[in-house]
Amino acid sequence: MAVAQREVVVRPQLLDRLADARTNTDELFALVKPEALYDRPIPERHRIVFYIGHLEAFDWNLLSGRILGLSAFQPGLDRLFAFGIDPVGGGLPTDRVEDWPNITAVRDYVARTRRALDEALESRFSTGQWWHTDFSPNLLLEVALEHRLMHAETLAYILHQLPLDRKVLPGMKPEPVIATVTPEMVRVPEGFATLGLQRDGGTFGWDNEFEEHRVHVVANIPDARGRVPGVFRARTIRLVIQRPIIAVTART
Ligand SMILES: [Fe+2]
Repeated sequence: MAVAQREVVVRPQLLDRLADARTNTDELFALVKPEALYDRPIPERHRIVFYIGHLEAFDWNLLSGRILGLSAFQPGLDRLFAFGIDPVGGGLPTDRVEDWPNITAVRDYVARTRRALDEALESRFSTGQWWHTDFSPNLLLEVALEHRLMHAETLAYILHQLPLDRKVLPGMKPEPVIATVTPEMVRVPEGFATLGLQRDGGTFGWDNEFEEHRVHVVANIPDARGRVPGVFRARTIRLVIQRPIIAVTART
């Protein structure tokens, strides 16, 4: 099959960040005892096994056809782990353990999907040639990263609901030595607080993180433990309510 390609400069650190994010989610799944992988710690959410496959299915469904020119080789699992099993009648999930592939098949799906994606990504990075579509490789890789990290966050609270005896207890680390806090004042110079992102700024963001909004802020002297004078606190709270804070910088 002839491959339509285009030259694109893709940030190489995206692959390192994707590897780090995978390590992050792998470590979360490793906290679950094998006999608990099909548990559903929260009734409204999927079984844990769904998320093991879902993270890879999402990456595959997002990247394979749009920028890598790959064809599906496990379409049934791509679909199952994209959407899960719909509840009957629109209520709480009713799927049973036996409705899901066994864990060996799921692990095999994860390994094969990652390998196929990694081989294609490394090849595209080395040649600079990407499948020609309307999608930006940089943007799609950022979406894959954000999606995985978002699930890492939700997995953290899902696993928090898993009974302790269903989890692998990590080795205890020594208690950190914490220095005594000495109150002190720090000066925040007058300048501009920048909230949100420019839509055409080339930086990835979710829909509710646009547009950029700059606000002039007067100088303040909060103490190092976070207590701030009332006027600064009032301004900060109002800004947080109005817009999500993406970056707050003070420039003179
Ligand atoms: Fe998802």
